[in-house]
Amino acid sequence: MKRRGEKIACLTAYDASFARLADAAGVDILLVGDSLGMVVQGHDSTLGVRLNDMIYHAQLVRRGVKRSLVVVDMPFMSYATPYQALGNAGRLLGESGAQVVKLEGGAWLAATVELLGARGIPVCGHLGLLPQSINKLGGYRVQGRDPQGAEVIKRDAEALESVGVAMLVLECVPSQLAAEISAAATIPVIGIGAGPGCDGQVLVVYDMLGISERLPRFAKNFLAVRAGVEEAFRDYAEAVKRGEFPGAEHGFE
Ligand code: KIV
Repeated sequence: MKRRGEKIACLTAYDASFARLADAAGVDILLVGDSLGMVVQGHDSTLGVRLNDMIYHAQLVRRGVKRSLVVVDMPFMSYATPYQALGNAGRLLGESGAQVVKLEGGAWLAATVELLGARGIPVCGHLGLLPQSINKLGGYRVQGRDPQGAEVIKRDAEALESVGVAMLVLECVPSQLAAEISAAATIPVIGIGAGPGCDGQVLVVYDMLGISERLPRFAKNFLAVRAGVEEAFRDYAEAVKRGEFPGAEHGFE
């Protein structure tokens, strides 16, 4: 899709019913995000999510899907070393039927990405705001606004691509930086709070249905103007594919 210049629509999903509706509405990728720790389990961060939680929710999502690609997050501390990651990623994909694992972090993950790739496990990278590092970051803030921070994110993106990540998520980075990284990369770059210049867009499904407590500035409630969830998903997928969402107002400077 990136080579053809088609925008990629992605949503998080945590169960079979929402997965079935999003799949039918034309959403290309369903991400079983560890955001489920917050929006499903009610924690105030993603750190309490366990591998078995991710396996369980990925199984549910996989049962609802006919065509969408299913990407699943590896939870906090389940990939601290390459061989720990290999064992846990093997369980995640093997026991759930999901197709890609997502890991948060930059160049330090190079050996892990290579090991997983060599064993047939595709990896999605995740740069910018890393929710699993919230205790180090000190808050859910836009990353890469300063020149040094932006340079680190750019170099991390290059490092991950060079060892074979299949795609990249960029969370809460300035729109200009996200556009530059997307243009330089040959792999698809999926943004969230990263402006309109990425190859695709992901939203937390509860945000775009207006179920979350607060609507993040970079999200939009697609259900507010629609009669049903499937139509809201269809509107979202079509808005992403037409390049209408996200707009400049959904990005950061
Ligand atoms: O866990 C998640 O839902 C995510 C998205 C915010 C990209 O990682």
